[in-house]
Amino acid sequence: MSLPGAEERHAAEIAYWNGPAGERWVSRQETQDALLAPAGEALLARAAVRSGKCVLDIGCGWGGMSIELARRVSPGGRVLGLDVSAPMLARAHELQPPGLPLEFVRADATVYPFAAGGADLLFSRFGVMFFGEPVRAFANMRTGLRRGGRVVFACWRELAANPWLMLPLEEAYRHVPRLPEAGPEDPGAFSFAAPQRVRGILERAGFVAIDLEPVALSLDLATGRGLESAVATAVSIGPAARALEGQPAPVRSAATAAIRAALARHKAHESVPLDGSIWIVTAVNP
Ligand SMILES: C[S@@+](CC[C@H](N)C(=O)[O-])C[C@H]1O[C@@H](n2cnc3c(N)ncnc32)[C@H](O)[C@@H]1O
Repeated sequence: MSLPGAEERHAAEIAYWNGPAGERWVSRQETQDALLAPAGEALLARAAVRSGKCVLDIGCGWGGMSIELARRVSPGGRVLGLDVSAPMLARAHELQPPGLPLEFVRADATVYPFAAGGADLLFSRFGVMFFGEPVRAFANMRTGLRRGGRVVFACWRELAANPWLMLPLEEAYRHVPRLPEAGPEDPGAFSFAAPQRVRGILERAGFVAIDLEPVALSLDLATGRGLESAVATAVSIGPAARALEGQPAPVRSAATAAIRAALARHKAHESVPLDGSIWIVTAVNP
């Protein structure tokens, strides 16, 4: 059996975000927005966008960040939110407030014909780790940036630096088989965890002044709604959810009980705060 090539891996990611997983993400939109708010705030602070600027939000999902960016670039600026997922973009259109300078487009960032040199900022919160050919994708996205335009995006550091995902996974592994180890070039949530890989991708795509800043976060798995909410999140997203997928009901419920017991040890009032860690990556189009 031959290993899947970059194109097949890329197609699998696009199918993933357009299939039941995309629907599941959308069903959790409000919770996800609350959970990931600290990452969004840190990223928006680094992006420091002002009125009049033109921003590309890559892998924008349901556009929570795009909407916030569009408020900040008004008046005079504009935001293009680009995503490959039909369910995510359907929700983006529902959430889009009238009157903002914001447009959503369904497209693959690897090949989308960006208006040449039109944008001041290439922005993304966790939307650029899923490309089968990341150098090609970033080189293509660079065509949309003006000379001197900036890149600011967030990606996850390694799993071990993210106990909010690691803890549920370790508990799940007491009951279910381990997930296949991802290859170093495989797209996925942790594919940009290694700084030297990210630097190499951006350099080869033609960017300069590349910097990765580690940012520590406290993420409330319960989003202020108690232990059961934290458990629901832990089994719905991230690697624990992938490990539990397709497992028989008794196995799932044993794993869920183990996750519940572990999370209960971190409960503080109605919150379950756990550490997370991201890179905020910045670069410049020369
Ligand atoms: C983890 S979600 C992040 C969504 C959003 N940025 C947020 O922070 O809520 C990753 C997004 O990247 C999108 N995506 C994956 N591959 C893509 C591609 N090749 N081109 C454009 N978007 C892509 C997915 O459809 C998904 O909406």
